[in-house]
Amino acid sequence: MADLDDIKDGKDFGIGNPPVNEGFFIKGSNALDWGMQNRLSRIFNSETGNTVMLAFDHGYFMGATTGLERIDLGIMKLVPFADVLMCTRGVLRSCIPSKVIKPIVLRCSGGNSILTELSNETVAVDIEDAIRLNVAAITAQVYIGAKHEHKSICNIIKLIDTGNRYGIPTLAVTGVGKEMARDARYFGLATRIAAELGAHYIKSYFIEEGFEKVTAGCPVPIVIAGGKKLPELDALTMAYKAIDQGARGVDMGRNIFQSDSPVAMIQAVGAVVHKGEKPKKALQMYETLKAELGD
Ligand code: 5RP
Repeated sequence: MADLDDIKDGKDFGIGNPPVNEGFFIKGSNALDWGMQNRLSRIFNSETGNTVMLAFDHGYFMGATTGLERIDLGIMKLVPFADVLMCTRGVLRSCIPSKVIKPIVLRCSGGNSILTELSNETVAVDIEDAIRLNVAAITAQVYIGAKHEHKSICNIIKLIDTGNRYGIPTLAVTGVGKEMARDARYFGLATRIAAELGAHYIKSYFIEEGFEKVTAGCPVPIVIAGGKKLPELDALTMAYKAIDQGARGVDMGRNIFQSDSPVAMIQAVGAVVHKGEKPKKALQMYETLKAELGD
C-alpha cells in the first residue's frame, strides 16, 4: 500500500555530491539515444570495450559451407563463448532456440550468390521483422568500388534510417570485390564512407600495413572479419595485432568454426580480445583446451 497518510520526506539528497554524468564508453556513440546505446552495450563489453562476435551468416550467399552444415551441431556449442551472434533470420528462427539470450546482429542483405556478382545485393529483411526478432543490430555489406557500389550504399543508408527510427544500430560490413586492392587506402575509404553515412560500427579486414590509420580515421568502432581459414597461430596473431592497432573486436567465422577445435579456438580468441593475451600464450590455451576436450 502506498504511504498516503504518513508521507516520509526524502532526507538523503547527497548535497555536495555532483550527479554522476559519465560519457558513453563506445567511440563516436556519445550522442546516441538510450535505446541505441543500450543495444551497443550488449554488443561491446563495457569493461574491455571489445567484442567477440561469432559470424555464421555465410550461408546466405555461400550455402552450407564447411563448419556450417549443421548449425545445431557445429554452432550451438560455441554460443556460450561468444559475446554476439551474427546470422540470418532463417537460421535464427530454424536453428537457434529462442531461450538463447545472446545479442543478435541480423544479416539484413541478400539477393546474391557465389555464382554471380557479389555486390548485387538488396535489403532482404524488413525492419519490423528485425524488431520482432529482438535483435541488437542490423547489418549489410557496402561494396565500395565494386560493380554495384551505389546499390550497396543505398542498402546501408536504408538500414541506418530505418534502424535509427527504432533505436537499432547498424553494422556496415566492408565487402571487398575480387578486383579491389586490400590495402589501407581501400579500407580507410570504405570504413570512413560507411561511418559518414551513419553506420554505428564497421567490419573491416585486418591489413599488415597501415591498419592503425584505418582505425584512427574511422570515427566509430571497427571490428575485423577473420576471412579464410588460417593456421590457429596466424588467426590469433591477426586478432592480437588488430586489437593492438585500434580494432574493438572481431566478427569471426571460418577461423573459429573451421578450426580443428572450434570450442577451444573461440575461447583463445576471447582471451586475445578481452585480456590482451599474446598470440603464443593464446595458442597454448587453445592447445590445452583442445586436449581437454579430446578434439
Ligand atoms: C559474410 C560475412 C561474414 O560474417 C564475415 O566475412 C565474417 O566471417 P569470416 O571470419 O569467415 O570472414 O560478413 O559476408
